[in-house]
Amino acid sequence: MTPDDMPAMTVAECSVEALVDRYQMVRRRTETLAAPLSPEDQSAQSMPDASPTKWHRGHTTWFFETFLLTPFLPGYTVYDPAFGYLFNSYYEAVGPRQPRPQRGLLTRPSAQAVGAYRAHVDAAMVRLLEGPLTPEIRERLELGLNHEEQHQELILMDILHLFAQSPLSPAYQPGAAPARPDPGPQRFHRFAGGLVEIGACEAGFAFDNERPRHKTYVAPFRLSDRLVTNGEWLAFIEAGGYGRADLWLSEGWATVNAEGWEAPGYWRRDEDGAWTTMTLRGRHPVDPNAPVVHVSYYEAAAYAAWSGRRLPTEAEWEAAATASGMTALRQLYGGAWQWTASAYGAYPGFKPGPGALGEYNGKFMVSQMTLRGGCEATPPGHTRSTYRNFFHPGSRWMFGGVRLADDDRLSEVKPGDSFLDEVVKGLSASPKTLPAKYFYDAEGSRLFEAICELPEYYLTRTETALLRQIAPEIAARIPDGAALVEFGSGASTKTRIVLDAAPQIAVYAPIDISPTALDEAATSLRKAYPNLAVAPLVDDFTKAMTLPEGAKGHTPVGFFPGSTIGNFAPDEAEALLRQARTLLGEGSLFIVGADVAKDPAVLIPAYDDAQGVTAAFNRNVLVHINRELGGTFDPAAFTHKAVWNAQESRIEMHLESTRDQIVMVGDYGFRFAAGETIHTENSYKYPAEAFEQIAKRAGWTVAQRWVSENPTFAVYALTA
Ligand SMILES: C[S@@+](CC[C@H](N)C(=O)[O-])C[C@H]1O[C@@H](n2cnc3c(N)ncnc32)[C@H](O)[C@@H]1O
Repeated sequence: MTPDDMPAMTVAECSVEALVDRYQMVRRRTETLAAPLSPEDQSAQSMPDASPTKWHRGHTTWFFETFLLTPFLPGYTVYDPAFGYLFNSYYEAVGPRQPRPQRGLLTRPSAQAVGAYRAHVDAAMVRLLEGPLTPEIRERLELGLNHEEQHQELILMDILHLFAQSPLSPAYQPGAAPARPDPGPQRFHRFAGGLVEIGACEAGFAFDNERPRHKTYVAPFRLSDRLVTNGEWLAFIEAGGYGRADLWLSEGWATVNAEGWEAPGYWRRDEDGAWTTMTLRGRHPVDPNAPVVHVSYYEAAAYAAWSGRRLPTEAEWEAAATASGMTALRQLYGGAWQWTASAYGAYPGFKPGPGALGEYNGKFMVSQMTLRGGCEATPPGHTRSTYRNFFHPGSRWMFGGVRLADDDRLSEVKPGDSFLDEVVKGLSASPKTLPAKYFYDAEGSRLFEAICELPEYYLTRTETALLRQIAPEIAARIPDGAALVEFGSGASTKTRIVLDAAPQIAVYAPIDISPTALDEAATSLRKAYPNLAVAPLVDDFTKAMTLPEGAKGHTPVGFFPGSTIGNFAPDEAEALLRQARTLLGEGSLFIVGADVAKDPAVLIPAYDDAQGVTAAFNRNVLVHINRELGGTFDPAAFTHKAVWNAQESRIEMHLESTRDQIVMVGDYGFRFAAGETIHTENSYKYPAEAFEQIAKRAGWTVAQRWVSENPTFAVYALTA
């Protein structure tokens, strides 16, 4: 609990003097917030969701008058009977009201007249508080004060929205905010979950929606120790996050397109490309170290999807906030309201109270999402760990931000898990390495397909054209009823060239490490080739010891395009080819596509494209590790590098650490010095003769070699 989060002494415990003091302090704060605003500022309404400051001042006063003075102060008569219509917000039980979108039309009463109304009610409230106080009066007073604090935050949100519409970008509070220090990488803390208790207990003040306290089950999870920053959000924008339908919820995608969103609310890109944002201090450059604010739930969810994480549920947030003590989690209450993945609903056992005040929160429990925490506009001491804020998922004018969570998959990773073992081994080596096959989760497979479309990536275009040209010759070597066994099949695009030329193939048996790529390819091939049996196998082809089940009983023909063989060093490639020979059997045919050594000026751009797709593909291995193994990599803190190693005749991909940092993978910590790299992939470029030597050493005979025009790419027919 932060000092800000300590509940103030509740009204039920206060002496009369303390009660009057507290009442006057809260009421004065509202007037202090309104003080820098002119009467014109106070009357304008910038959108239906926002209200004029003058209205907030009137409404909070009406609340005390209606729910305390009228029922409980003997002899009190309402200040102005017309005000009930003007300042009732949404209480059906109290009567009709000015439509919310038209609060800005209330030029009367003036801001000054509202001040007089406030003074009248305040004087009457002091009389009430000095009289006998029943528990009900104390309870309503507490609610009224907390209600007014909520409107204090609304005043700031609404005035910011209003000022953001002005070409003058007025500052509510002049002066730039001090630049924030770099908050450092996000650290994901592990929480065991289990049966946890959330919600406010009976003692002390809480809004009705925070009760009853109840038990709920939470699976093991991890929560970031800080909020997502503007700098991280910029990386999302630059990666095309606002243009990728696959990251967005359907409603979110529709909203992005309808509203033309390209950045958080109030962000504007100047002609020189620099971003500014509207703040309570006026328009200022976006501070990369400050938490991102004014993002909708849709944006928060898209960002989480992009970063390979998710939003926390309410129960996770609250369990972590109460378990974390003072230090583990930063920015719990002051930085931004944090969107949760939980829809705003009633806790088990919740019942709205009787009468008009029962309308306070309960009737809004539909179609909104819950946010936790607090923000710079939240009055000090107002919020707490059980506090439930809620907004429609498209709203951006409140200070809504993002704290990421993910499933604690590490608790599911069993000892001996080969992903964990290989990653730990690779990162413990010097220089650090990671196996290239772990690029290929669903996102990695998608990015690889995008790479294949790049103008710089000549490999796919060249190999595809060559395969089309030689398909009849390949087909002539394939026996009737054969099973085409493909190694690292990905989207199985090149497969179709062989299948079209060789209808005698009875079975297609792709082996790939990526279940999603395999699933999608199998589904689309089954549709396109109804007579073909498709028998996919999710496996590491360097370890596969038996053919996919459906291929058994058919003559296997191996197919290994894409120059994936180039990802293996010569001795590994030899071992792999030998193993494939054992798998496919004596007398079998193996068609292998492999790139050929060429000018680095052609090679380098193929692995370091202008659009940064290969960079995203390279960094995705870190995202994959974060998700599956509980890693704490900050992908933005690693730069993509592609270098030609002439001595080894290979392109190397690396991820270079931009700073000194420590990264956790599960329970293992790895130190990175600034400039240190992880070697993530090799793509060997063999001269054709060199490749043939490797194949021969592995026991294959080179039956035929086809080489494309420049840029050269080779396909080999090997026979066992
Ligand atoms: C470079 S892509 C080639 C895809 C496709 N064959 C083509 O030519 O377009 C490599 C493919 O091999 C898969 N892959 C990489 N290493 C693997 C391994 N050790 N075991 C199984 N599949 C692997 C990846 O998931 C990916 O689909």
